[in-house]
Amino acid sequence: MTRGLGDAWLSAAAAALLATAPATTAHAQEYPSKPVVIVVPAAAGGPTDTLARNLGVAMGSALGQQMIIDNSGGAGGIIGINKAAKSRPDGYTVLLYHIGMSTAPALYRKLPYDTVNDFEYIGQVADVPMTLVAKKEMSPNSFGEFLAYAKANQSTLTYANAGIGSASYLCGLLFMSTIQADFTTVPYKGTGPAMTDLVGGRVDFMCDQTTNTTPQIKAGTIKVYGVTSKMRVPSLPDVPTLEEEGLKGFALVVWNGLFAPRGTPKAALDRLIGALQTAVTDTAFKTRLADLGAEPVAPGKATPESLRILLKSEIDKWGPIIRKTGVYAD
Ligand code: MLT
Repeated sequence: MTRGLGDAWLSAAAAALLATAPATTAHAQEYPSKPVVIVVPAAAGGPTDTLARNLGVAMGSALGQQMIIDNSGGAGGIIGINKAAKSRPDGYTVLLYHIGMSTAPALYRKLPYDTVNDFEYIGQVADVPMTLVAKKEMSPNSFGEFLAYAKANQSTLTYANAGIGSASYLCGLLFMSTIQADFTTVPYKGTGPAMTDLVGGRVDFMCDQTTNTTPQIKAGTIKVYGVTSKMRVPSLPDVPTLEEEGLKGFALVVWNGLFAPRGTPKAALDRLIGALQTAVTDTAFKTRLADLGAEPVAPGKATPESLRILLKSEIDKWGPIIRKTGVYAD
């Protein structure tokens, strides 16, 4: 049997393919070869979602790969945190969450995950102050007026939050214990939908992050009584701090961190840490957050060790404060 020109060409093509095969395979396996999912344990449209979407753009361009958001809200973040903890640890799932990681262990008798040991730490992301806001029909026009009104009407006022374990829940808990009042809480899967109801006048007030409230404050669709940071927020210069308003020692800024499921390969973690480091110094990311009253952390804090130390110290800090309030969820 004689081999024709076609056979020879086929052999040459096969040899060429074989020669390039290892390189092609290695390239296909290079991390990340597909989009990375950011689990947000809250509904779309809220502060964690907003931060995740901006972070996803900045980190995605550093990774050369798209980052997509998985909104898994409910139970004050526990559902989404648990989902991330149980996800395949292959570098394609990360979790963005906040101060709620450190308050849930004191607020819940039992959690379906181990807060400290079920995650790899990537780094801190951004700090976000909160604001005490109310529906625009609320008659008080200052914090002083609101305080008197709220205390006199505590049996009827409704207070929106994102469920036990959320930052908005924590802020409300601290507010109620500071002013010694008790309001009816209305839980949502995130403060995105809570904001829709606040703007619509279906709930009375809430304490939420500036990344969610700033656009509505600026548009005049809600009232603001104060910010929870020690200093005024540059993008809301006319809004006094609650401390200025007389709530001595009332300071609450929401830290946010990026985690991965325990067992995520080191090579993937190193890429994610590098991308986070790039993101926190990215001008567009910084500007967008500043417009929303927030600030990315300095690169020295966007590290696994910094997040690990922060989480541990925050668990130690909030445990006794929350236990004193006697609040528990099952
Ligand atoms: C919270 O209160 O923890 C957040 O607002 C949740 C969210 O991002 O919706």
